[in-house]
Amino acid sequence: TLSPADRAKFAAARAALSLVEPDMKLGLGTGSTANWFIRLLGERIRVDGIKLTAVATSDRTAALALSEGIEVIDLDEAGWLDLTIDGADEVDPALNLIKGGGGAHLQEKIVATASDRMVVITDDSKLVATLGAFPLPVEVIPMGWKSTRAIIEEMLEQIDVSGREVTPRMDGAVLYRTDEGNHILDLHLERIGDPHRLSPLLNQVAGVVENGLFLGIADQVMVGYESGEAHLLE
Ligand code: A5P
Repeated sequence: TLSPADRAKFAAARAALSLVEPDMKLGLGTGSTANWFIRLLGERIRVDGIKLTAVATSDRTAALALSEGIEVIDLDEAGWLDLTIDGADEVDPALNLIKGGGGAHLQEKIVATASDRMVVITDDSKLVATLGAFPLPVEVIPMGWKSTRAIIEEMLEQIDVSGREVTPRMDGAVLYRTDEGNHILDLHLERIGDPHRLSPLLNQVAGVVENGLFLGIADQVMVGYESGEAHLLE
């Protein structure tokens, strides 16, 4: 039996499955909601015998997709994708997102922006009026990450946010490492007044690889509810 949150995530994933057509090249997101989608996609491939190829946004997702019998190829082999389905940590009314709670936002952003269409699947708890209650993940190069953090902290003084704490993400006693071998700084901003101003300023810092703001990237958001219903936002 599924928890209420999992019922909602499952409902979103199941509704998004109807967007998949044979022979599509798909981007597969990372996280518990994306995992539901990947399992349902595997089932559909086995039952309906449809053919499609997929690009994964993390090592974890690639492993799950392969175990589900989905053909996984590199993004450069795919060239361009028809549709990417991924979860999110927060979704605002303009369909801007915070992603990277699972540490995969760099590959997720590369894959989403190399797709004709990105559809987010989420439970209704991720819908917010203003982004920022969820800490904003920023992937940084390991070399000099402390000075990178200091530059980000100073930059945040000029930015319309409600909190300014920056913490390195940990994996037990050691710094978390992404699939690319980088670290993640979590920015506890509480409320991001102007994400369109913040995102380019973060990415201008030399040690920053990519931040978790997805602005104007998601085309639609499939919201699932614990009742089993799902609604498409666009
Ligand atoms: C992964 O890096 C994130 O961007 C995920 O998409 C996000 O954390 C959503 O995960 P859940 O579906 O598990 O909530």
